[in-house]
Amino acid sequence: MQIIPTFKSTLRFQEINRASLRLLAQKKSGRYKEDFKSLLMEYLGTGNIVFVPSARWGLYFILKNLDIPIGAEVIVSAFNYYAVPAAIIRAGMKPVFVDISENGIGIDISKIEQAVTDQTKVLIVTHLCGFVADMEKISAIARKHGLIIIEDCAQAFGAAVGTRKAGSFGDHAFFTFGLTKNFTAFGSGAVVTKNRNLLEMMEHDLSKLQQTSYRRTLLQLFWAYAILFATSRILFPLIYWVIRWLSDFGIDILDRLFRENEALMGKLPDSGCLNDVQASVGITQLSSVDERNILRGQKGLKLYNALKNTENITLPNIIAQAKNIFISCPVLVKDREKIRACLLKQGIVTSFGFMRNCSNFKLFSRYRSACVNAERASREIIYLPLYDSITDEEIDFVAEHIRKCLS
Ligand SMILES: Cc1ncc(COP(=O)(O)O)c(C=O)c1O
Repeated sequence: MQIIPTFKSTLRFQEINRASLRLLAQKKSGRYKEDFKSLLMEYLGTGNIVFVPSARWGLYFILKNLDIPIGAEVIVSAFNYYAVPAAIIRAGMKPVFVDISENGIGIDISKIEQAVTDQTKVLIVTHLCGFVADMEKISAIARKHGLIIIEDCAQAFGAAVGTRKAGSFGDHAFFTFGLTKNFTAFGSGAVVTKNRNLLEMMEHDLSKLQQTSYRRTLLQLFWAYAILFATSRILFPLIYWVIRWLSDFGIDILDRLFRENEALMGKLPDSGCLNDVQASVGITQLSSVDERNILRGQKGLKLYNALKNTENITLPNIIAQAKNIFISCPVLVKDREKIRACLLKQGIVTSFGFMRNCSNFKLFSRYRSACVNAERASREIIYLPLYDSITDEEIDFVAEHIRKCLS
Protein backbone atom coordinates (compact mmCIF):
# COMPACT_ATOMS: atom_id res chain seq x y z
CA MET A 1 0.00 0.00 0.00
CA GLN A 2 1.29 3.46 -0.93
CA ILE A 3 1.20 5.88 1.97
CA ILE A 4 1.48 9.57 1.21
CA PRO A 5 1.70 12.30 3.87
CA THR A 6 -0.02 15.62 3.35
CA PHE A 7 3.21 17.58 3.78
CA LYS A 8 6.89 17.11 4.50
CA SER A 9 9.56 19.06 6.27
CA THR A 10 11.36 21.74 4.30
CA LEU A 11 14.46 21.18 6.41
CA ARG A 12 16.98 18.48 5.66
CA PHE A 13 18.51 16.36 8.40
CA GLN A 14 21.96 18.00 8.00
CA GLU A 15 20.45 21.48 8.28
CA ILE A 16 18.82 20.66 11.60
CA ASN A 17 22.00 18.99 12.85
CA ARG A 18 24.07 22.04 11.95
CA ALA A 19 21.59 24.29 13.77
CA SER A 20 21.80 21.99 16.81
CA LEU A 21 25.59 22.33 16.89
CA ARG A 22 25.38 26.11 16.59
CA LEU A 23 22.86 26.18 19.41
CA LEU A 24 25.11 24.05 21.60
CA ALA A 25 28.07 26.32 20.87
CA GLN A 26 25.80 29.28 21.71
CA LYS A 27 27.72 31.63 19.47
CA LYS A 28 26.41 35.16 19.74
CA SER A 29 28.38 36.88 17.04
CA GLY A 30 25.41 38.55 15.34
CA ARG A 31 27.25 37.89 12.12
CA TYR A 32 24.73 35.49 10.66
CA LYS A 33 21.91 37.93 11.27
CA GLU A 34 23.53 40.71 9.27
CA ASP A 35 24.52 38.27 6.53
CA PHE A 36 21.01 36.85 6.40
CA LYS A 37 19.52 40.33 6.12
CA SER A 38 21.75 41.26 3.17
CA LEU A 39 21.12 37.95 1.41
CA LEU A 40 17.39 38.30 1.97
CA MET A 41 17.34 41.83 0.53
CA GLU A 42 19.20 40.61 -2.50
CA TYR A 43 16.90 37.61 -2.89
CA LEU A 44 13.65 39.54 -2.54
CA GLY A 45 14.96 42.47 -4.56
CA THR A 46 13.73 45.03 -2.06
CA GLY A 47 15.31 47.77 -0.02
CA ASN A 48 14.67 47.51 3.68
CA ILE A 49 14.12 44.57 5.98
CA VAL A 50 13.41 44.28 9.66
CA PHE A 51 13.00 41.03 11.59
CA VAL A 52 9.82 40.57 13.62
CA PRO A 53 8.55 37.88 16.04
CA SER A 54 6.00 36.55 13.50
CA ALA A 55 4.06 37.60 10.42
CA ARG A 56 1.07 38.80 12.43
CA TRP A 57 3.23 41.04 14.61
CA GLY A 58 4.94 42.24 11.46
CA LEU A 59 1.56 43.38 10.14
CA TYR A 60 0.74 44.96 13.48
CA PHE A 61 3.98 46.98 13.52
CA ILE A 62 3.49 48.11 9.92
CA LEU A 63 -0.06 49.32 10.61
CA LYS A 64 0.86 50.92 13.91
CA ASN A 65 3.64 52.96 12.35
CA LEU A 66 1.80 54.05 9.22
CA ASP A 67 0.67 57.64 9.12
CA ILE A 68 -3.05 56.80 9.17
CA PRO A 69 -5.70 57.51 11.80
CA ILE A 70 -6.84 54.99 14.40
CA GLY A 71 -10.04 53.35 13.17
CA ALA A 72 -8.98 53.50 9.52
CA GLU A 73 -10.43 50.77 7.31
CA VAL A 74 -8.18 48.00 6.04
CA ILE A 75 -9.48 45.89 3.16
CA VAL A 76 -8.62 42.23 3.45
CA SER A 77 -9.70 38.97 1.82
CA ALA A 78 -12.41 37.23 3.84
CA PHE A 79 -10.90 33.79 3.20
CA ASN A 80 -7.93 34.24 5.42
CA TYR A 81 -5.91 33.14 8.39
CA TYR A 82 -7.61 34.52 11.50
CA ALA A 83 -4.37 36.13 12.73
CA VAL A 84 -4.49 38.71 9.92
CA PRO A 85 -7.77 40.45 10.91
CA ALA A 86 -6.72 39.93 14.54
CA ALA A 87 -3.55 41.97 13.89
CA ILE A 88 -5.56 44.71 12.14
CA ILE A 89 -7.82 45.02 15.18
CA ARG A 90 -4.85 44.90 17.56
CA ALA A 91 -3.36 47.86 15.69
CA GLY A 92 -6.59 49.81 16.24
CA MET A 93 -7.87 49.57 12.66
CA LYS A 94 -11.04 48.12 11.19
CA PRO A 95 -10.93 45.04 8.93
CA VAL A 96 -13.23 45.24 5.92
CA PHE A 97 -13.78 41.77 4.52
CA VAL A 98 -14.07 41.37 0.77
CA ASP A 99 -15.22 38.07 -0.71
CA ILE A 100 -12.96 35.84 -2.81
CA SER A 101 -13.66 35.19 -6.48
CA GLU A 102 -16.01 32.41 -7.48
CA ASN A 103 -13.33 30.22 -9.01
CA GLY A 104 -10.36 31.19 -6.91
CA ILE A 105 -9.13 31.47 -3.35
CA GLY A 106 -7.84 35.05 -3.58
CA ILE A 107 -9.71 38.34 -3.12
CA ASP A 108 -12.33 39.13 -5.78
CA ILE A 109 -10.68 42.10 -7.47
CA SER A 110 -13.98 43.25 -8.98
CA LYS A 111 -15.40 43.75 -5.48
CA ILE A 112 -12.54 45.81 -4.00
CA GLU A 113 -13.76 49.20 -5.22
CA GLN A 114 -17.24 48.68 -3.76
CA ALA A 115 -15.62 48.29 -0.35
CA VAL A 116 -13.59 51.53 -0.53
CA THR A 117 -14.86 54.46 1.56
CA ASP A 118 -13.32 57.75 2.75
CA GLN A 119 -11.96 55.83 5.73
CA THR A 120 -10.15 53.16 3.68
CA LYS A 121 -6.39 53.55 3.84
CA VAL A 122 -4.88 50.10 3.34
CA LEU A 123 -5.39 47.10 1.10
CA ILE A 124 -3.86 43.80 2.19
CA VAL A 125 -3.13 41.34 -0.60
CA THR A 126 -2.65 37.70 0.35
CA HIS A 127 -0.71 35.40 -1.96
CA LEU A 128 -2.53 32.36 -0.60
CA CYS A 129 -0.99 28.88 -1.05
CA GLY A 130 1.89 30.52 -2.94
CA PHE A 131 -0.43 31.64 -5.77
CA VAL A 132 0.61 35.12 -6.81
CA ALA A 133 -2.27 37.63 -6.81
CA ASP A 134 -2.91 39.79 -9.88
CA MET A 135 -0.78 42.68 -8.67
CA GLU A 136 -1.18 44.73 -11.85
CA LYS A 137 -4.95 45.05 -11.47
CA ILE A 138 -4.80 45.40 -7.70
CA SER A 139 -2.11 48.10 -7.86
CA ALA A 140 -4.18 50.09 -10.37
CA ILE A 141 -7.14 50.13 -7.96
CA ALA A 142 -4.90 51.04 -5.04
CA ARG A 143 -3.35 53.93 -7.00
CA LYS A 144 -6.78 55.22 -8.04
CA HIS A 145 -7.96 55.40 -4.42
CA GLY A 146 -4.64 56.28 -2.80
CA LEU A 147 -4.48 53.03 -0.82
CA ILE A 148 -1.35 51.61 0.73
CA ILE A 149 -0.69 48.01 -0.38
CA ILE A 150 0.61 45.50 2.15
CA GLU A 151 1.43 42.06 0.78
CA ASP A 152 0.87 39.05 2.99
CA CYS A 153 3.69 36.73 1.90
CA ALA A 154 3.31 34.25 4.77
CA GLN A 155 2.56 31.56 2.18
CA ALA A 156 4.57 32.93 -0.71
CA PHE A 157 8.27 33.01 0.02
CA GLY A 158 9.94 33.01 -3.39
CA ALA A 159 6.75 33.15 -5.48
CA ALA A 160 7.25 35.57 -8.36
CA VAL A 161 6.15 37.04 -11.64
CA GLY A 162 9.14 36.98 -13.94
CA THR A 163 12.03 38.13 -11.80
CA ARG A 164 9.81 40.14 -9.42
CA LYS A 165 9.26 38.37 -6.13
CA ALA A 166 6.08 38.50 -4.08
CA GLY A 167 6.76 41.16 -1.47
CA SER A 168 8.28 43.60 -3.94
CA PHE A 169 5.05 44.79 -5.62
CA GLY A 170 3.36 46.66 -2.79
CA ASP A 171 4.50 49.35 -0.36
CA HIS A 172 5.19 46.89 2.44
CA ALA A 173 5.13 43.12 2.93
CA PHE A 174 5.36 40.61 5.75
CA PHE A 175 6.76 37.09 5.83
CA THR A 176 6.75 34.24 8.31
CA PHE A 177 9.58 31.79 8.89
CA GLY A 178 7.46 29.16 10.66
CA LEU A 179 8.54 25.53 10.70
CA THR A 180 5.79 24.24 8.44
CA LYS A 181 6.36 26.79 5.67
CA ASN A 182 8.33 26.35 2.42
CA PHE A 183 11.04 28.56 3.89
CA THR A 184 11.84 28.40 7.56
CA ALA A 185 14.20 29.88 10.11
CA PHE A 186 12.73 28.06 13.14
CA GLY A 187 10.04 30.72 13.56
CA SER A 188 10.03 34.56 13.59
CA GLY A 189 9.41 36.58 10.43
CA ALA A 190 10.34 39.69 8.50
CA VAL A 191 8.86 42.91 7.20
CA VAL A 192 9.99 44.39 3.94
CA THR A 193 9.27 48.04 3.27
CA LYS A 194 10.00 50.69 0.69
CA ASN A 195 9.62 53.40 3.30
CA ARG A 196 12.78 54.21 5.28
CA ASN A 197 10.87 56.25 7.85
CA LEU A 198 8.62 53.31 8.62
CA LEU A 199 11.66 51.07 8.84
CA GLU A 200 13.29 53.33 11.42
CA MET A 201 10.11 53.54 13.50
CA MET A 202 9.73 49.77 13.41
CA GLU A 203 13.37 49.25 14.33
CA HIS A 204 12.85 51.55 17.28
CA ASP A 205 9.78 49.59 18.46
CA LEU A 206 11.46 46.24 17.91
CA SER A 207 14.67 47.22 19.69
CA LYS A 208 12.66 46.83 22.93
CA LEU A 209 12.15 43.12 22.20
CA GLN A 210 14.62 40.38 23.04
CA GLN A 211 15.81 37.89 20.48
CA THR A 212 14.18 34.45 20.46
CA SER A 213 15.32 32.67 23.61
CA TYR A 214 17.63 29.65 23.75
CA ARG A 215 14.78 27.57 25.16
CA ARG A 216 12.39 28.48 22.39
CA THR A 217 14.95 27.71 19.70
CA LEU A 218 15.61 24.38 21.40
CA LEU A 219 11.89 23.62 21.29
CA GLN A 220 11.75 24.52 17.59
CA LEU A 221 14.71 22.18 17.01
CA PHE A 222 12.82 19.42 18.73
CA TRP A 223 9.76 20.06 16.50
CA ALA A 224 11.95 20.22 13.40
CA TYR A 225 13.34 16.74 14.14
CA ALA A 226 9.88 15.46 15.06
CA ILE A 227 8.30 16.67 11.79
CA LEU A 228 11.24 15.37 9.74
CA PHE A 229 11.12 11.89 11.27
CA ALA A 230 7.34 11.66 11.47
CA THR A 231 6.97 12.35 7.74
CA SER A 232 9.93 10.18 6.67
CA ARG A 233 9.36 7.14 4.47
CA ILE A 234 10.28 4.83 7.35
CA LEU A 235 8.16 6.27 10.13
CA PHE A 236 5.18 7.73 8.29
CA PRO A 237 3.55 4.36 7.54
CA LEU A 238 3.25 3.86 11.32
CA ILE A 239 1.99 7.39 11.90
CA TYR A 240 -0.50 6.81 9.10
CA TRP A 241 -2.17 4.00 11.05
CA VAL A 242 -2.42 6.23 14.11
CA ILE A 243 -4.03 8.99 12.00
CA ARG A 244 -6.41 6.46 10.47
CA TRP A 245 -7.29 4.82 13.76
CA LEU A 246 -7.98 8.19 15.41
CA SER A 247 -10.05 9.34 12.45
CA ASP A 248 -12.35 6.34 13.08
CA PHE A 249 -13.13 8.03 16.41
CA GLY A 250 -13.71 11.38 14.69
CA ILE A 251 -10.36 12.79 15.87
CA ASP A 252 -8.40 14.87 13.36
CA ILE A 253 -4.98 14.62 14.96
CA LEU A 254 -3.24 16.94 12.45
CA ASP A 255 -5.81 19.62 13.18
CA ARG A 256 -5.37 19.13 16.93
CA LEU A 257 -1.58 19.32 16.70
CA PHE A 258 -1.32 22.36 14.48
CA ARG A 259 -4.46 24.41 15.10
CA GLU A 260 -3.94 27.53 17.16
CA ASN A 261 -6.32 28.77 19.78
CA GLU A 262 -8.10 31.37 17.66
CA ALA A 263 -8.31 34.52 19.76
CA LEU A 264 -7.74 38.25 19.48
CA MET A 265 -4.11 39.23 19.95
CA GLY A 266 -3.11 40.03 23.51
CA LYS A 267 -0.09 41.86 24.84
CA LEU A 268 3.05 42.48 22.83
CA PRO A 269 5.59 39.68 22.95
CA ASP A 270 8.76 40.63 24.81
CA SER A 271 10.96 38.50 22.57
CA GLY A 272 10.89 36.54 19.33
CA CYS A 273 13.06 38.47 16.89
CA LEU A 274 15.49 36.33 14.96
CA ASN A 275 18.61 35.12 16.80
CA ASP A 276 21.88 34.06 15.20
CA VAL A 277 21.07 30.35 15.10
CA GLN A 278 17.79 31.10 13.31
CA ALA A 279 19.63 33.40 10.90
CA SER A 280 22.12 30.64 10.08
CA VAL A 281 19.20 28.30 9.27
CA GLY A 282 17.70 31.04 7.09
CA ILE A 283 20.97 31.38 5.17
CA THR A 284 21.13 27.67 4.33
CA GLN A 285 17.44 27.65 3.42
CA LEU A 286 17.99 30.57 1.05
CA SER A 287 20.53 28.58 -0.93
CA SER A 288 18.00 25.85 -1.70
CA VAL A 289 14.59 27.53 -1.64
CA ASP A 290 14.42 28.26 -5.38
CA GLU A 291 15.20 24.67 -6.27
CA ARG A 292 12.49 23.44 -3.90
CA ASN A 293 10.00 26.05 -5.09
CA ILE A 294 10.52 25.10 -8.74
CA LEU A 295 9.81 21.47 -7.88
CA ARG A 296 6.72 22.42 -5.88
CA GLY A 297 5.45 24.55 -8.77
CA GLN A 298 6.00 21.76 -11.31
CA LYS A 299 4.40 19.10 -9.14
CA GLY A 300 1.45 21.30 -8.24
CA LEU A 301 0.77 21.97 -11.93
CA LYS A 302 1.13 18.28 -12.71
CA LEU A 303 -1.49 17.39 -10.11
CA TYR A 304 -3.82 20.18 -11.29
CA ASN A 305 -3.40 19.03 -14.90
CA ALA A 306 -4.16 15.45 -13.95
CA LEU A 307 -7.40 16.63 -12.29
CA LYS A 308 -8.36 19.18 -14.94
CA ASN A 309 -11.24 17.33 -16.52
CA THR A 310 -12.48 15.61 -13.39
CA GLU A 311 -16.09 16.23 -12.50
CA ASN A 312 -17.23 17.51 -9.10
CA ILE A 313 -13.95 19.18 -8.24
CA THR A 314 -12.98 22.84 -8.53
CA LEU A 315 -9.36 23.75 -9.07
CA PRO A 316 -8.76 27.36 -7.99
CA ASN A 317 -7.80 29.75 -10.79
CA ILE A 318 -4.16 30.72 -10.82
CA ILE A 319 -2.22 33.20 -12.94
CA ALA A 320 -0.51 30.92 -15.44
CA GLN A 321 2.42 33.29 -16.16
CA ALA A 322 3.35 33.58 -12.48
CA LYS A 323 5.80 31.37 -10.60
CA ASN A 324 3.21 29.92 -8.24
CA ILE A 325 4.97 27.85 -5.63
CA PHE A 326 2.14 25.64 -4.38
CA ILE A 327 2.98 25.87 -0.70
CA SER A 328 -0.04 23.57 -0.56
CA CYS A 329 -2.38 22.13 -3.16
CA PRO A 330 -5.98 23.23 -2.54
CA VAL A 331 -9.02 21.90 -4.36
CA LEU A 332 -12.72 22.39 -3.61
CA VAL A 333 -15.08 19.44 -3.34
CA LYS A 334 -18.60 18.98 -2.04
CA ASP A 335 -18.83 16.60 0.90
CA ARG A 336 -15.14 16.95 1.69
CA GLU A 337 -15.37 14.76 4.82
CA LYS A 338 -16.41 11.81 2.68
CA ILE A 339 -13.68 12.42 0.09
CA ARG A 340 -11.06 12.83 2.78
CA ALA A 341 -12.08 9.59 4.48
CA CYS A 342 -12.07 7.78 1.13
CA LEU A 343 -8.55 9.06 0.30
CA LEU A 344 -7.31 8.17 3.77
CA LYS A 345 -8.40 4.58 3.27
CA GLN A 346 -6.21 4.50 0.14
CA GLY A 347 -3.19 5.76 2.11
CA ILE A 348 -3.49 9.43 1.08
CA VAL A 349 -3.44 11.87 3.96
CA THR A 350 -5.01 15.28 3.31
CA SER A 351 -5.90 18.24 5.46
CA PHE A 352 -8.61 20.90 5.72
CA GLY A 353 -6.05 23.56 6.66
CA PHE A 354 -6.68 26.66 8.71
CA MET A 355 -8.06 29.22 6.27
CA ARG A 356 -11.63 30.21 6.97
CA ASN A 357 -14.27 32.74 6.07
CA CYS A 358 -13.11 35.23 8.71
CA SER A 359 -16.07 37.53 8.04
CA ASN A 360 -18.18 34.83 9.68
CA PHE A 361 -16.01 34.38 12.77
CA LYS A 362 -17.57 35.15 16.13
CA LEU A 363 -14.31 36.91 16.95
CA PHE A 364 -14.91 39.42 14.16
CA SER A 365 -18.70 39.65 14.39
CA ARG A 366 -18.57 43.48 14.48
CA TYR A 367 -17.08 43.46 11.01
CA ARG A 368 -19.27 40.79 9.43
CA SER A 369 -20.14 40.98 5.75
CA ALA A 370 -21.75 38.53 3.33
CA CYS A 371 -18.99 36.54 1.62
CA VAL A 372 -20.62 33.56 -0.07
CA ASN A 373 -17.55 32.35 -1.95
CA ALA A 374 -15.36 32.48 1.15
CA GLU A 375 -18.08 30.58 2.97
CA ARG A 376 -18.14 27.92 0.29
CA ALA A 377 -14.33 27.64 0.31
CA SER A 378 -14.41 27.19 4.10
CA ARG A 379 -16.77 24.26 3.66
CA GLU A 380 -15.22 22.67 0.58
CA ILE A 381 -11.46 23.21 0.63
CA ILE A 382 -9.20 20.22 0.98
CA TYR A 383 -5.41 20.27 0.70
CA LEU A 384 -3.88 17.43 -1.28
CA PRO A 385 -0.37 16.13 -0.57
CA LEU A 386 2.27 18.36 -2.12
CA TYR A 387 5.97 18.90 -1.40
CA ASP A 388 9.17 19.07 -3.42
CA SER A 389 10.03 15.39 -2.94
CA ILE A 390 6.65 13.92 -3.94
CA THR A 391 7.23 11.62 -6.91
CA ASP A 392 5.38 11.64 -10.24
CA GLU A 393 4.02 8.15 -9.44
CA GLU A 394 2.65 9.43 -6.15
CA ILE A 395 0.98 12.35 -7.93
CA ASP A 396 -0.64 9.96 -10.43
CA PHE A 397 -1.74 7.77 -7.53
CA VAL A 398 -3.35 10.75 -5.74
CA ALA A 399 -5.11 11.92 -8.94
CA GLU A 400 -6.38 8.43 -9.71
CA HIS A 401 -7.83 7.96 -6.25
CA ILE A 402 -9.45 11.38 -6.16
CA ARG A 403 -11.25 10.50 -9.36
CA LYS A 404 -12.34 7.18 -7.84
CA CYS A 405 -13.48 8.78 -4.59
CA LEU A 406 -15.44 11.48 -6.44
CA SER A 407 -17.21 9.08 -8.77
C1 LIG B 1 -1.75 33.76 5.00
C2 LIG B 1 -1.17 33.89 6.37
N1 LIG B 1 -1.02 35.11 6.91
C3 LIG B 1 -0.49 35.26 8.14
C4 LIG B 1 -0.07 34.19 8.89
C5 LIG B 1 0.46 34.39 10.28
O1 LIG B 1 1.82 34.01 10.37
P1 LIG B 1 2.49 33.94 11.81
O2 LIG B 1 2.06 32.67 12.43
O3 LIG B 1 3.96 33.99 11.55
O4 LIG B 1 2.01 35.12 12.56
C6 LIG B 1 -0.20 32.90 8.37
C7 LIG B 1 0.24 31.73 9.13
O5 LIG B 1 0.28 30.63 8.69
C8 LIG B 1 -0.76 32.74 7.08
O6 LIG B 1 -0.90 31.52 6.53
